[in-house]
Amino acid sequence: MARRKSHPPRPRSVFIWDLPTRLFHWILVCLVALAYVAGDLGGNWMVTHLRAGEAILALLLFRLVWGFLGSTPSRFVSFVRGPRAVLRYVRTLFVRSTTPHPGHNPLGGWSVLAMLALLFVQAVTGLFANDDIFVTGPLYAWVSKAASDRLTKIHLFNRWLLAATGGVHIAAVFFYLFYKRENLILPMITGKKRWRGAAPPPIRRASRLLALLVALASFGAVWLLVR
Ligand code: HEM
Ligand code: HEM
Repeated sequence: MARRKSHPPRPRSVFIWDLPTRLFHWILVCLVALAYVAGDLGGNWMVTHLRAGEAILALLLFRLVWGFLGSTPSRFVSFVRGPRAVLRYVRTLFVRSTTPHPGHNPLGGWSVLAMLALLFVQAVTGLFANDDIFVTGPLYAWVSKAASDRLTKIHLFNRWLLAATGGVHIAAVFFYLFYKRENLILPMITGKKRWRGAAPPPIRRASRLLALLVALASFGAVWLLVR
């Protein structure tokens, strides 16, 4: 009997990031860049800065809810892992070709949470901030001048933490691309990842209509808060 030749498994395409998560990411990137540039230019650009910041807050609210209702890889339960899983993963960080993850890897999951938390601090402190001249966040009147000053200090300091984390994030994505030969960027654009080997666990896709409703509710809530 002729022996069967063993071929390496053919790569296939696996769905990872749903459209709402991808839109969230790329709109967030554009708005964060706009918030930094407009904040730095100051003057009349502060109006743009405030609107961009409020939109970022709405996006973050959306992502928070989507972390419970979204497709499997976008849910917090699927990417927030315990210290053991993180340590096990860290040991393989400099191994050149590791098996891909059907979503964020255990270390990436925590870096995503850290970025979301820093963005949240930045957006919320901005609501109460003031520049001592003519710009105030929309909820400035809710707190005393001293409290607003403290929150402004946090806003101005946290921007550096946020910029540093964003820089590390981009560097990490390129480290994966060039060192580990894993393209994480393409799945964030197309939603699909090339997959070799055993099938990943089943992925449940969430409804886009639900995403639209959550997005409308998030933007509506922020609009009601700041008007
Ligand atoms: C051109 C620059 C950027 C590129 C190429 C990029 C690429 C990516 C990629 C590939 C992922 C998925 C990582 C994975 O597979 O685990 C991701 C996730 C993420 N990125 Fe970026 N990113 C960029 C800029 C930023 C910036 C500036 C921020 C915010 C400060 C940001 C925030 C996030 C967040 C919050 C996630 C998690 C997405 C989610 O689960 O909803 N990214 N990014
Ligand atoms: C993640 C979103 C945000 C980012 C990245 C960001 C970034 C910045 C930066 C870089 C500055 C400093 C400008 C400078 O003095 O050079 C600034 C100032 C300011 N931001 Fe934001 N901001 C965000 C969200 C918000 C929000 C939501 C509001 C209010 C609706 C806001 C209100 C202000 C105010 C009032 C100042 C003036 C403070 C001062 O210059 O003393 N920001 N922000």
